[in-house]
Amino acid sequence: MSEAHVELVAKRFQAFAEPFLAEPGDNFAYRLKVEHTIRVSAIATDIADHSRVSERVRFAARLAALLHDVGRFPQYKRYRTFRDAESANHAALSVRHTLRGDMLADVPEDIRRLTLGAVILHNVRALPLTLPPETLAVARLVRDSDKLDIFRVMIAHFSQETPQHPEVALHVKPHPTAYSQAVLDGLLRGETGDYRHIVWVNDFKLMVAGWIYDLNYRHSLKLLRERGYLDTIFDSLPAEPKLLALRSQIMGHLAQRLAGD
Ligand SMILES: [Fe+2]
Repeated sequence: MSEAHVELVAKRFQAFAEPFLAEPGDNFAYRLKVEHTIRVSAIATDIADHSRVSERVRFAARLAALLHDVGRFPQYKRYRTFRDAESANHAALSVRHTLRGDMLADVPEDIRRLTLGAVILHNVRALPLTLPPETLAVARLVRDSDKLDIFRVMIAHFSQETPQHPEVALHVKPHPTAYSQAVLDGLLRGETGDYRHIVWVNDFKLMVAGWIYDLNYRHSLKLLRERGYLDTIFDSLPAEPKLLALRSQIMGHLAQRLAGD
């Protein structure tokens, strides 16, 4: 396993995406996923380079980052949505199309297995802690990288007067101040948000802020702090006491986990 394998899989991903990008009409959704994939793989490399992980974990995480959203392309082509509940589990589609296209050809068997494990696990709400340690390490790394880029995508999306595309934020309802009490209460208890409870745009922002409880690697938290994503999100929410309390709870959590830096 070498750098050349990662390059090869990156090329295969590009070749897989190309026909979708060439489709007439609405190709914004496909471009979004290609760009997301490229950034997620860069973030995964960065986290791996700054963390104590084995070479095997490092390679598998980089491959899984490249392949995690392969299923988004056939999903959007068939259903015109990124909402899994209304279409199909896109992680399962990613595995199916990775295998069908033999996109992991020439990759050693142990790394293939770790890669596919992280792809299928990248969108589960919580990782089963009974997983083998290396599977867990790869899945956590990919999930952190994915989330860090979604922070960026969401902030770019919500800061536009006219959001670029309804699928980016999965059709949440726009409103300057409305939010759901259930979403806020869950986050105040330190739980991560649940897509099923999201109604308003502010619910979505809160859920994304709550992902901090599900970031695993220290370097991921550092990237989050460096990029100022949490401040951007909270600055765009109404200045209500309960929301301010959540803000200080979340910022406190970040500071505590990064203490000693
Ligand atoms: Fe995904």
